[in-house]
Amino acid sequence: MGFFDTLGIKCVNELAIREKRVFLRTDFNFPVDEEGNIADFERMEKSIPTIKHILEHNARLIIASHFGRPESEKDIQYTLEPFAAKLAEILEQDIYFFEDCVGMGAMQMVRDLKPGQILVLENLRFNSDEKKGSSAFARDLAKMCDVYINDAFGVCHRKDTSIALLPRFVDTKGAGFAVKQEIDELSKLIGLEHGNGLCIMLGGSNVNDKISLIRPMLEVADKIILGGPLAYIFMAAQGLNAGAASVDEEKIPLAKEILKSAKVRKVEIVLPVDHTVAETVNSTEPVVCKSGSFQEGMEPFDIGPETVGLFAEKIAECKHLFWSGPLGVYERPQFSAGSLKLAERISKLPIHKVAAGGDTEEMLRRAGLAGKFDYLFTGGTAALEFLKNGGMIPGLEALKG
Ligand code: 3PG
Repeated sequence: MGFFDTLGIKCVNELAIREKRVFLRTDFNFPVDEEGNIADFERMEKSIPTIKHILEHNARLIIASHFGRPESEKDIQYTLEPFAAKLAEILEQDIYFFEDCVGMGAMQMVRDLKPGQILVLENLRFNSDEKKGSSAFARDLAKMCDVYINDAFGVCHRKDTSIALLPRFVDTKGAGFAVKQEIDELSKLIGLEHGNGLCIMLGGSNVNDKISLIRPMLEVADKIILGGPLAYIFMAAQGLNAGAASVDEEKIPLAKEILKSAKVRKVEIVLPVDHTVAETVNSTEPVVCKSGSFQEGMEPFDIGPETVGLFAEKIAECKHLFWSGPLGVYERPQFSAGSLKLAERISKLPIHKVAAGGDTEEMLRRAGLAGKFDYLFTGGTAALEFLKNGGMIPGLEALKG
């Protein structure tokens, strides 16, 4: 019996779905480039086995997802319409799209669906109730379906309505194949304790979510490596000048506390020792400088070459690596070398190495290194929350029984 089976959650292939109205919650939160263009559709590929399974059972498939963090009801840059078109291309079948996710129009579209047909609903986050955990919104969504399937692991740590509440209003529910696979892969890291050789490396811009996860990770990891904005907070906590980097001052006391507990627990916190810096992110002539000796007005946008060597050595001392978040502004060629060179070094290490999150995945794919990692998780924060809580995160809890 695998870890998934111990959770009390059914997988889509264990549920009676034939000719039913199946609501599939996917994570189509694709990475986008600086112009807002979708950088890759990999997340869609991950849900294809679940979609095909549902269609093979002649079900009526209703697909819903969030995309980005839209600030208003119709922030058109976050519409899911292009994804419906992409999915139609991948599946080679017509797909209906509706410009809302609830209401009379959406209900009518569902009523008109025939077995084997697909309806993609508009971005769930265009409805402000999605983020509020609203029972009324959950009931409206539930009216559209007989079966609820969650194949959106990357958002399972959130209490969003369609993740944590909607399944409670649907009798038949379960996980899609992508969610099951992510759980199976994560279970390889569950139960690891201090001394088992786990290194967690965190970067990326999502400081708020990640910093609160560092403390619980002190219980399971031997080393925690930090890059990007998270590292600048810890540098400031150690009294090191982080140049013109914008450091969230409010987080410094927490960083100090974490550094103290890490020392007591003998967990090594590894910070960059040099940086690629420039006056602005648009500068094409960055220079390298050591931690603590930034020139006036210089801002760090990537780790430096000495740091690449240091991080690679520290990772080589471990048995498992969990990496979430690029260590620099990797979208800009002049600030991508740190993450890419380190990824290359890691790819040659004979250790169990996994990476998580859309940006990390996209960066590894772009470098042609994705295949060198043992597994790529869709959501970095979801994966860390899963490890922190022994698998109990809101989206999975809601699928039980
Ligand atoms: C992700 O990309 O990490 C998930 O889709 C969750 O997105 P969110 O952080 O906007 O909730």
